[in-house]
Amino acid sequence: MTAPADLSVVEDAEAQARFEDLIAQDSRIEPRDWMPDAYRKTLIRQISQHAHSEIIGMQPESNWISRAPSLKRKAILMAKVQDEAGHGLYLYSAAQTLGISREEMTQQLIEGKAKYSSIFNYTTPTWADMGAIGWLVDGAAICNQVPLCRASYGPYGRAMIRICKEESFHQRQGFEILLELMQGTEAQRRMAQEAVDRWYWPALMMFGPPDDQSPNSAQSMAWNIKRFSNDELRQRFVGMLVPQAEVMGVTLPDPNLKWNEAEQRYDMSEIDWTEFHEVLAGRGPANAERLRRRREAHEEGAWVREAAAEYARKQALKQKAVA
Ligand SMILES: [Fe+2]
Ligand SMILES: [Fe+2]
Repeated sequence: MTAPADLSVVEDAEAQARFEDLIAQDSRIEPRDWMPDAYRKTLIRQISQHAHSEIIGMQPESNWISRAPSLKRKAILMAKVQDEAGHGLYLYSAAQTLGISREEMTQQLIEGKAKYSSIFNYTTPTWADMGAIGWLVDGAAICNQVPLCRASYGPYGRAMIRICKEESFHQRQGFEILLELMQGTEAQRRMAQEAVDRWYWPALMMFGPPDDQSPNSAQSMAWNIKRFSNDELRQRFVGMLVPQAEVMGVTLPDPNLKWNEAEQRYDMSEIDWTEFHEVLAGRGPANAERLRRRREAHEEGAWVREAAAEYARKQALKQKAVA
């Protein structure tokens, strides 16, 4: 007779084989499926960091809603910032299917234990920063996220499909803000160029360290979570920017940027990774401010959460009475 402990080992081996089979066939893994612990942990980390980035990412732009230069710009910017809140919510929901609660994720963020994209720790001193964020930051997000629509974990991939549609609108609105400024006065053109200068390098850093210094990439690629390496995505991004920069008349702030015909890639200057690590370590221009504001918003929202919980409790009581 087989002891229960042995039985579970056999079941695990079968489940593991099923998992590997699904990955080999490039199929989706769903919440009901068995998955290795490391796969689950990687996804929880990646999806929750992504959700936090969407939520913290609302701050540098919401800063400009009340100062947008026209009613049309204000309405567009408000819609965009609301979209980011929605992205955060889809992603928190996707992470919850892996067994972590929303409260736990929020707690990790407000206690400063969770990471989010370092790009949102930069400040937005002028209106042109709204253009540069849309064009460069949402543009980089698209390059990163389109391949994630095919991520092996079903709820993540499906959330990304909706998110990517909205990100392309965000990228277009940023492009259009910059284009309009570039067709304006000398001062407006200067403002647009300075914003591009501020955001270009941090946007390139959004793809993460170079391939030879990215230890988790290989495993994520083997699991069909990640489809392209950091450097491949960075190349694609620059390839998208170059013709668009020409249309607008802005200069990408890299004197060494040029197409290398022999290698079929862009040559570019070395990225300043010291800056990236400083911002990641919490020493960027606005890290403390972003977390302070997030904590404040969480406290201010306590009554909403309490009211929603109380409403749900009463509804459940009513249903019970009917049954
Ligand atoms: Fe987003
Ligand atoms: Fe966006």
